[in-house]
Amino acid sequence: MDELDGRDGLPEALRVLVETLPRSGWEAHPNFDGLTRFWLDRHLMFRDVLGRLRSGAEARLDGKIDPMRHARETQRYAGFLLNELHGHHSIEDHHYFPVLQGLDARVARGFDLLDADHVALDGHMHRLAEVTNAYLAEFEAAAGAGRLREALAGFERFLDRHLTDEEDLVVPVILTYAPDLR
Ligand SMILES: [Fe+2]
Ligand SMILES: [Fe+2]
Repeated sequence: MDELDGRDGLPEALRVLVETLPRSGWEAHPNFDGLTRFWLDRHLMFRDVLGRLRSGAEARLDGKIDPMRHARETQRYAGFLLNELHGHHSIEDHHYFPVLQGLDARVARGFDLLDADHVALDGHMHRLAEVTNAYLAEFEAAAGAGRLREALAGFERFLDRHLTDEEDLVVPVILTYAPDLR
């Protein structure tokens, strides 16, 4: 099953490059460049901000953070995350993926899969924004914080799946073909 919501990794046929170029050897590869580093760092940053949002919601539910402060932080981090993710997906869809997709016919289909992930993530981002806004409108009530935590946990699962599979597909293509993505 290729859909983001039901996947537990890249489909076997699309793992042909990552099988020979496992993650542990990426950074030492001669074609690992600054842009690849930057791109992987963006993924790390998304994971980090999402982790902050989740631990914030947990602290809020445990009464370990002032509700007003939590609302301010949630607004800032969620706004930042959704905005940056939107820009990141758009650069991938319009700039990186069209170049990368033409390099190796064996994994070309993987870029359609990632594109479909972005569409699915758009829906998840929209729902996360709704739940966040509902919480912020009544941040003193704990019920909204519970819903926020649930929404964040679900979103984290989908985003992490997408980022990991995307890295497993994209980085081996870059290392193998060293395309000029600038
Ligand atoms: Fe992506
Ligand atoms: Fe990405």
